[in-house]
Parts: sequence; C-alpha cells; structure tokens
Amino acid sequence: MYTGILHLHSFLPYIFISLLIISILVFWTKHSGKKEFGKSDKQLALFTLILAHTQATIGLVLYFISPITKAAFENSSELMSNETYRFYAVEHILTMIFGIILITMGYSKSKKKEGTAKFKGLALFYTIALVLILSRLPWEAWLGV
Ligand code: HEM
Repeated sequence: MYTGILHLHSFLPYIFISLLIISILVFWTKHSGKKEFGKSDKQLALFTLILAHTQATIGLVLYFISPITKAAFENSSELMSNETYRFYAVEHILTMIFGIILITMGYSKSKKKEGTAKFKGLALFYTIALVLILSRLPWEAWLGV
C-alpha cells in the first residue's frame, strides 16, 4: 500500500503543478486584458482546487505510513536536528497545507467578486501558493535533482 500511495503522491504533482501554472498564466493574462470571467475559467480554477485537495489528502495518508515520518516520530529527539526528518515531518507538510489553504481562499474569495476582479484574487492567491509549494518540494527525492 505504501508504494502505491507514494507513487500516486509523486505522480499527481506533475498534473497539479502544471495546472496551477496554467491557471496563473490564464488568470493574470485575462486580468490584464480585462476579460469576462467565463465557464472555462471557473472550471480551471475548480479543477486546480480539487487536485490540490486530492494531493494533500494523499499526503496526509502518507504522513502516517511513510517510513521517514515513522522514523522521525520514533526518534523525536532528533526531529528538528535531522534535516530529512525536519523536512518531511514539519516543513513539507506545513508549507503544503498553507499553500493549499491559499488556493482554497483564492477560489472562495473570487466567488464573491464580480467581473475581472475574480481573476485578480485567483491569480494572486494561486501565485503565492505556487511559490510556497515549489519552495518545499523534495526535489532530489522526486526528480533526482
Ligand atoms: C501541494 C501539495 C503537495 C505536493 C505537491 C507534494 C509533493 C511531494 C513529492 C513530490 C514528494 C516526493 C515523492 C517521491 O519521493 O517520489 C512528497 C513526499 C512526501 N509528502 Fe508530499 N506533497 C504535498 C503535500 C503533502 C502533504 C499535505 C503531506 C502531509 C500531510 C505530505 C506528506 C509527504 C510525505 C510524508 C512524503 C515522504 C514520503 C516518503 O518518501 O516516504 N505531502 N510530496
């Protein structure tokens, strides 16, 4: 089960991060072009939100079954001094959850706005979320870089 969940948690970011980048580009472009907020924009924002929540839910399952987080909690005295433990047990989870909260806020705030203002909220919140998410991805474990 662990391997399957890890593969899913490792594969989904390709789609999720691509979609987040596309959303940001579309929303900033349409905001500066003062375009009308259409059905396809709503779908793009919503699909990005759903993928963000799916990624986080799978991450939460991983948090309880991963050998890395298990080892981190078994050796809790080293939790903050060991770079790997600190990264997965503290930094990765907190930053990702914060990023996903921002995506959720951007989506729900934009629902209350009208016209082109919808684009600004989405673009802004999604951009900050992307920066946070990219800052705490385990690049080396993920892509070997
Ligand atoms: C935007 C959300 C997230 C993204 C894009 C993301 C991405 C990733 C990636 C790419 C990996 C490396 C997988 C690999 O080694 O192939 C990873 C590992 C991990 N993630 Fe996330 N993650 C997210 C959210 C979360 C959340 C919310 C949690 C916990 C609640 C979490 C827990 C973990 C754990 C425990 C690992 C290490 C798994 C292991 O190697 O045993 N992730 N994550």
